[in-house]
Amino acid sequence: MYNTLQLGIKYINYLITANNGRGHGMHSPFVYDLIRNVLMDKKQYEAYEKPEAFRKRLLNNETIIEVEDLGAGSVSGKTKQRKISEIVRTSVKHKRYSRLLYRIACYYKYGRILELGTSLGVTSSYLAQVPGLEELVTMEGADAVADMAEREVLNYGKVRVVRGDFDGQVAESGERDVERGEARGVRREDIGGHRTNLEKLVSDMPRIDMAFIDGNHRREPTLRYFETILPKTHEDSCIIFDDIHWSREMEEAWEKIMKDARVTLSIDLFFIGIVFFRKEFREKQHFSIRF
Ligand SMILES: C[S@@+](CC[C@H](N)C(=O)[O-])C[C@H]1O[C@@H](n2cnc3c(N)ncnc32)[C@H](O)[C@@H]1O
Repeated sequence: MYNTLQLGIKYINYLITANNGRGHGMHSPFVYDLIRNVLMDKKQYEAYEKPEAFRKRLLNNETIIEVEDLGAGSVSGKTKQRKISEIVRTSVKHKRYSRLLYRIACYYKYGRILELGTSLGVTSSYLAQVPGLEELVTMEGADAVADMAEREVLNYGKVRVVRGDFDGQVAESGERDVERGEARGVRREDIGGHRTNLEKLVSDMPRIDMAFIDGNHRREPTLRYFETILPKTHEDSCIIFDDIHWSREMEEAWEKIMKDARVTLSIDLFFIGIVFFRKEFREKQHFSIRF
C-alpha cells in the first residue's frame, strides 16, 4: 500500500494529466456522453436518501463487532474487534463514488449487478435501488458485517447477500447459517448464507451486467476475479475496480486489465477504474478523466 505522501503525489499527477472532467476536447462520443450524462450529473436523486441515512446511523454506532480479517495483507482465520463507526469511516466507499455507481447502473439499465465486498452494505443500498434491477448479488466474507448489511439491504428486495471468501471453499448453507439467519429475523428460505466462493457464485448467475470489485486489493486475486467474472459479461457490461492506485500491486493489475485485448475502453477516475467491452469502438481506447 502506498503511503499518504506517495498517494498524494499520484493524485496531483492525475489531476494535472487527466482529461477534462466536463468532456471538452473529448473525441470519443461514448465517453463524452458518459461524462456529460453520468459523471457530471449533479441531480439529488431520491435514491440517495436512504443509503446516506443508513451511513449516518452507522457512523453513530459505537458497537464493537468481531470481524474476520480478509483481503490485502490479511492472515487467514484472524479476526479483529472493530467499531462499526470506524468500519464505515475507513472501509466504505465515499458517497461520491457510491452515487456514481448507482448512476452508471441506471444510465446503462443494468439489471444484474455483482458487488465483491459488501462490508456494511452502504454501496449495496444504492445499487439495490436501480430501476429495473433484476438482482444485486453482493458477497462478503466477514459474517458480522454481512449480517448488518443484510438487515438493511433485504428491505429493498431483489438483493442477495452471499457469505463466503471469494477464494474459499464451497459449502452448502449449514445449520449454523440457518440459525444465524433466523436469529437475524431472516426467513429460512431467504437465507442467502450459502457459503460459497466466487467461482461457484458466478457460475450460478445467468449474466453479469455490472460488477464492482471492492475487496482483496492485490494483484493476483484482482486479475483472477476479472477472469472469473468475464465469461458472464457481455458487450454492454462494465466492470469497476476499486482503488486502482492504492498500491503497486493494484496498479500492476489495473495496467494488465487495461491492456487486455477483450477490454475495448478503460477509464481511470483515480479512485476507481472502469472497463467496457463494447465492439463499437474501432480501436482500443483509454482515458484518465478528472472526477
Ligand atoms: C472496502 S470493503 C467494501 C465496501 C463496500 N463495497 C461499500 O462501498 O459499501 C471490502 C470488503 O471486502 C471484504 N473482503 C475482502 N477480501 C475478501 C475475500 N477474499 N472474500 C470475501 N470478502 C472479502 C472485506 O471483509 C470488506 O468488508
